Amino acid sequence: MKLIKKLLVASAVSGLVLTSSLAGDMDLVKKGEKIFNTKNLGNCLACHDANGKNIDGPGSMGPKLQYLSAWPEQALYDKVYDPYTTNPISQMPAFGKNGWLSDAEIKAVVAYLKTIN
Ligand code: HEC
Repeated sequence: MKLIKKLLVASAVSGLVLTSSLAGDMDLVKKGEKIFNTKNLGNCLACHDANGKNIDGPGSMGPKLQYLSAWPEQALYDKVYDPYTTNPISQMPAFGKNGWLSDAEIKAVVAYLKTIN
């Protein structure tokens, strides 16, 4: 009986942890989306539209972002940090290397990019 109680408590607690970490992820995704769309932050929408939403701005020159949910997080991070490592003639600026976005901001952007199918 005692064991069952302990198990119930343990599963209730782990349930809580799970929901709160999911909520945390949602916040991160929202933060990343904001950075993506904000001119003096990522301003990614100036060059990219995402998910087929035609939000590309006047300077549009990047590919439409799709199927990014299949990319490993590290590859997305590296792309945003410094696209020249994988594409030496990239016209995308190095947001991390240039110091435009912090590590935490890039991680938020990556969380948002992972939601793009
Ligand atoms: C000045 C225009 C420009 C801006 C601003 C820009 N990008 Fe890009 N991006 C490009 C170009 C051009 C490419 C294609 C060449 C390459 O892969 O390096 C690209 C490629 C990418 C790719 C790879 C897409 C694929 O399917 O291969 C990702 C992911 C990406 N950008 C994310 C971002 C994010 C996130 C931001 C904002 C933090 C951003 N970009 C801002 C121009 C831009």
